[in-house]
Amino acid sequence: MKKNNIILIGFMGVGKGTIARAVVKSQGVFAVDTDDLIESMQNQKIKKIFEKEGEPYFRELEQKCANWIEANVDNTLISTGGGFFMRPNIKNLGHIVYLKSSFEGILKRIKKSPNASSKLKKRPLLKDMKKAKELYDKRVPQYEAIADLVVDVEHKSLQEIVDFIIQGVGHDCKNDKI
Ligand code: S3P
Repeated sequence: MKKNNIILIGFMGVGKGTIARAVVKSQGVFAVDTDDLIESMQNQKIKKIFEKEGEPYFRELEQKCANWIEANVDNTLISTGGGFFMRPNIKNLGHIVYLKSSFEGILKRIKKSPNASSKLKKRPLLKDMKKAKELYDKRVPQYEAIADLVVDVEHKSLQEIVDFIIQGVGHDCKNDKI
């Protein structure tokens, strides 16, 4: 049976963390973030892991994280790093919700944030904007192909996004057992 997790996927800076926190507030669900799990597992920031060990090692850590979720986590909202959707077992983890925005919309969102420079600095793959745009163009069709639900986050309020996600996955992910 398909798991009852909601898995938020989408490009860096699209607002996965902000939207996850809004769903938590409105629905009272439990939530985890794959980047946070990896950072606490390694006791190291993502940026440092990329610098010291390289991207392939980071992807291995994402795979460990995906395996752990598959084996142990249910009824939970899971926000993911922008490349987590590439894990081959992602479809086993729950309802995949793609948060969609144009590249320009993502940049606008990052720039208007009060901690814009730290948002850019902590993301190694946003260092070079030309490469970031190429990565975005490559990933958009992949995100769309894997998603059970696509949410246009650029033209909706936070509340509209939350409502759309909850209605779209057909039920909530409250865990009555906890
Ligand atoms: C990545 C996105 C980042 C983080 C890492 C790699 C990617 O997460 O996992 O820097 O490959 O798109 P955010 O999407 O939260 O920035």
